[in-house]
Amino acid sequence: MSSGPRDTTSPRRALITGAAGGIGAAIARVLHTGGATVIVTDVDLDAARATAAIIGGAEAVHLDVRSEKSVRSAIGSITSRHGPLDVLVNNAAVCSNLEFESVPEPVWSVDVDVVLGGAIRLCQAVLPGMREARRGAVVNVASVNGHRYFGNDTYSAAKAGLLNLTRGLAAQYGPYGVRVNSVSPGTIATPIWEERLATDPHALDKAASWYPMGRVGTVDDVAEAVAFLAGDRASWINGIDLPVDGGLLAGSRAMAVDIGAAVVDAD
Ligand SMILES: NC(=O)c1ccc[n+]([C@@H]2O[C@H](COP(=O)([O-])OP(=O)(O)OC[C@H]3O[C@@H](n4cnc5c(N)ncnc54)[C@H](O)[C@@H]3O)[C@@H](O)[C@H]2O)c1
Repeated sequence: MSSGPRDTTSPRRALITGAAGGIGAAIARVLHTGGATVIVTDVDLDAARATAAIIGGAEAVHLDVRSEKSVRSAIGSITSRHGPLDVLVNNAAVCSNLEFESVPEPVWSVDVDVVLGGAIRLCQAVLPGMREARRGAVVNVASVNGHRYFGNDTYSAAKAGLLNLTRGLAAQYGPYGVRVNSVSPGTIATPIWEERLATDPHALDKAASWYPMGRVGTVDDVAEAVAFLAGDRASWINGIDLPVDGGLLAGSRAMAVDIGAAVVDAD
């Protein structure tokens, strides 16, 4: 008989990057509700503190995923106080919104460095402790943009890299009881959309019409999926990507209708 998950009773210690707002804050809240000790990290410490205070009982720590020094110092300080982390959620991202040929290097390099470089830095800092403890779960917040073309080329290329990093690390750390998975959200109304909504106030309504479920997602839709993959109920799930996209990656009937290809009228 398999012994199953190692320890389902001790409280888990979970660190989320970019958790001051949006999806990251919801992940922190849901993991806290599930009994984890939650460390809300962000490059914006004031906002992280405000989020940790709203959650109650969570800790806020400054962590800039673009800086090796910041990552090492934050992880060193957190693990010396709390012990090794059980859960790492690589959630921080920025997304430039320019046509491919006009994205200057100082802009696209930030997209790539936050999304992919950040996850690499965090995984390098956290995985050795998980390997030693022979326990741990990493959940990378990828995107439907990592699977198909939906614009935002440089951000999307970094998300595709994150999907492959997930598989590679799952294969390498699985033997030590450490799981590495990802989620791929579709459109979720968060501050990351603010720039686009400023120029097109109906952008999210338009997006909703393409989704098979007729709506965009909520931060809780994503947070619940992350909590599942991070927890012991997913103890033999390793190296997967879980789309949280209302079925978008399955296809879009609205798009099929628009191009005159739909043959079934379900209404
Ligand atoms: N909102 C969507 O439609 C959507 C869709 C697919 C995937 N996602 C992904 O979900 C995750 C969360 O996105 P969101 O919509 O909540 O965005 P958001 O802009 O609300 O939150 C991103 C957070 O990352 C932080 N951050 C930025 N640079 C950082 C750095 N260098 N170090 C640490 N933190 C940094 C920001 O301060 C912010 O709090 C991202 O990985 C994003 O790519 C979002």
